[in-house]
Order: sequence, then structure tokens, then C-alpha cells
Amino acid sequence: MADGSGRESMRIWHPCTQMKDHEAYPPVFMDRGQGIYLYDREGNAYIDAISSWWVNLFGHANPRIVERVTEQLSRLEHVIFAGATHAPAEELAERLLAVAMPGLSRVFFADNGSCAVEAALKMSHASFRNLGHPEKCRFLFLSNGYHGETAGALGVCGDRLYAAPFKPLFIEQIEVPGPDCLACPHGRTRETCDTECFAAMEAAIDAHKAELAGVIVEPLVQCAGGMRMYPPAYLAKLRRATTEAGIHFIADEIAVGFGRTGSMFACEQAGATPDFMCLSKGITGGTLPLSCVLTTDAVFDAFYHDYVEDKAFLHSHSYTGNPLACAAACATLRIFEEDDVIAANVARIAYLQEAVRGRFAGCKHVAEIRNTGWITAVELYADPGRGEPFDWRSRTGFRIYRAALRRGAWLRNLGDIVYFMPPYVITNEEIDRLADIAIDSVREVLG
Ligand SMILES: Cc1ncc(COP(=O)(O)O)c(C=O)c1O
Repeated sequence: MADGSGRESMRIWHPCTQMKDHEAYPPVFMDRGQGIYLYDREGNAYIDAISSWWVNLFGHANPRIVERVTEQLSRLEHVIFAGATHAPAEELAERLLAVAMPGLSRVFFADNGSCAVEAALKMSHASFRNLGHPEKCRFLFLSNGYHGETAGALGVCGDRLYAAPFKPLFIEQIEVPGPDCLACPHGRTRETCDTECFAAMEAAIDAHKAELAGVIVEPLVQCAGGMRMYPPAYLAKLRRATTEAGIHFIADEIAVGFGRTGSMFACEQAGATPDFMCLSKGITGGTLPLSCVLTTDAVFDAFYHDYVEDKAFLHSHSYTGNPLACAAACATLRIFEEDDVIAANVARIAYLQEAVRGRFAGCKHVAEIRNTGWITAVELYADPGRGEPFDWRSRTGFRIYRAALRRGAWLRNLGDIVYFMPPYVITNEEIDRLADIAIDSVREVLG
């Protein structure tokens, strides 16, 4: 029955959305994308400042990716990936292993980030089971961490917002207090940090060693948990501690891989090769869904046996290793190689960081401006001096996001954090424009 709210016409239930908001703010009806811009049906342009949920690397409708996918489309659009393989998957595996840290030698494909995490957790436990240790079935994860929203992934999510409502539906793993560099409980600053907070991880590994299969973390930046950044030294310590305990280090690089933190993969900055690396999002340049888990010979060998029923890794998705997605990923990795993207990004990253710092330096509501590579975040508080956040009912971040939309930038907030994670093809002029829009929007909302 129509009640005037408009809800009867809402056929599509959008993710991560309070649908009632669409009474006042209907979803923007997007028509097309070109480079860093999204265009709605009325022709309004929006700078895609968050790369469409952190997936887009080289701009929308990138001609090099489009060409490769188009070519693949008329050759082989999809094929079962059990018992068959194909050229884009073979090329992609070779390209991935060529850029990954030495020691990672096997590629297992899935089709979205959460499923890569599921696969890594299952593979980790099953490898121990195959080696005669079925009791190793638990995982440590960091508070504020986020690893996706399927049941297994929620079990290792420290982020209350996404996981708490569904607690009865999943097995909760073991949470360890994660680094909190904004309000360091050890009284350190980012400059004086000696990763004292790692003691909590050490203690947890010690306490649960016998039942643990591994530890899962988002290297360097806990993105969905609020763009919380912590130093590489933490990862280096984690590598040492997990090796000593004989358990797995699972690096979820789904959001931070492929250059987001400045290096190809975040773990490189710690000189730490994980036992599992989960990848997705930027892998196809933001074109098509794809994910994978990279792992080691040791893990692979634990499954190598005579029968499917005995020791094989039974985990599959219908669209595993889709040829179109693999072709898009090959084109993406080719761009990295041909354009020497990681080196070329250095100056642009510095420009973005300075542009944001310059605009926000005098803003009295800024608790911290932080950056790691392409990720720059501005955390806003009602009163930073007293450590007082805004009342969440004030919807401060959301109002800033709406104000930025009107000005032509897609700056979707994370709580009261305004962050920038644009495609790598953004120019200095566009960065200036984006930073101006951001500060003007903050001023409009906060005065
Ligand atoms: C670190 C991390 N892991 C896993 C996921 C889940 O990926 P997907 O949304 O493709 O399931 C995300 C998504 O934001 C993520 O940021």
C-alpha cells in the first residue's frame, strides 16, 4: 500500500544503505564513466574520489582494458574452471607471480574479495588438517579489521558495524587489540612508535598456539574500519612471530594491493612474505569481479594427493577464473609493467597528500590527517582537543558527502572520516579541485 514515502517504488535494495534515506536522497542514476569522472543521466560529472569502492586504478572505460576484454568476449566468455584452463588465466597467474613477493608460487582464483578470504581461511585450516593437525582451526584477527561479509569472513571482522548484527550466524574467531595510532595506549606518536602494541598479538599467539591455524590482517591500512594506518614494523614482527609459532600469516591485500599503499603490495614495505595473500578489487582495474589467493609451495603440497575425496581443496564458485575478468586483470598488470606505474605514482601521491594537508591544516575539527600511499584520510571530531567525536546521530560525515556530491565529487564518507582514494590517473589540477571541493563541503557543514 502506497504511504507517500516512495518505498513501494524501490525495487532495488542497495548494499550498505539505509533505504529510507532514498526518500530524501534517491540514488544518483549513473549513465557512464570516463577517466576519473562518473556522469549521471543529466550529464553532471562527479570526480570518483574513492575509485568506486576502491577498485578503479586507471580510470573508467580505460581503452587498454576495454580493448582486451572486448577481444576476449568474442573468443571465450566463460568456461568451467575445474578440468579446464584458458589463456587469460594462465597469463594472469604468470603475471601475478612475477610481481608478488618471492615465496608466493601458487594462485587460486575466486570471484570476489570475501570469497578469497573464505578460501584462504579454509585452505589454511585444511592444510594443517591434511598434515595431521585437525585441531588447528582458529584464527586471530585485529580489532577494527574488515575482511568481507560472508559468514567465514565476518568471523574475523573486528569491525562491529558489519559483524555484530549477525553474530549468531557465524563462528567468531579470536580478536586481538589492533594498533590504534591516533589514540596510542602506549603514549607514542607515529614518529616515536616502537610497535609496543604488538605485545597483545604475541600474548594471543602464545595463549592459543595449539589451536591456531593463522593470523589474518589488513596490511598497513584497516580501510573499512576507518582508514586506520599502522607501520610496516608491525607486519615484520607478525611475520617473525607466526613463523616461530608454526602458524600462517594471512595478508588481506584486497583493498591495499596493486599500488594503493605506494608499493605494489603493502607487505613489501615490511619485507614480509605472507603464507597467503588475498587479492581482489584493483586486480581488474575495477572492470570485472575477480579475486585470488596466492600461496606457497608448502601449502600447495599439503593438498597434493591421489584422490579428490582425499586432501584436494574443495572450494569452488561458478565464475571462478572467468576469462573476461582474467583478461581485464592481464591488461591491468600490463599497464603496471609498461607505464612503470609504481614509480610514476610517487610524485602524484606526494601532491595529493600535500593538497589535502594544505586545505585542512587550519580546520579546528581535524583530529588527524593521515596518509599511506594513495590513501589520505581526514578524521573529524566535534572537539579533537578533548578527543570528542561527533554524535553519530548528527550524520556529520554523511552531510559532508552530500555537500561534496552537489559540488561534483564522489567523496563517500566512512563515519566522520573524509578520505581520498582516487584512480591513479588523476592529474594535479584535478587533485586541487577535489581538495577544494572537500574543504568547501566541510566548511558548509561545520562552519
Ligand atoms: C580488506 C578487505 N577484505 C575483503 C573485502 C571484501 O571484498 P568484497 O567486497 O569484494 O567481497 C574488502 C571489501 O571492501 C576489504 O576491504
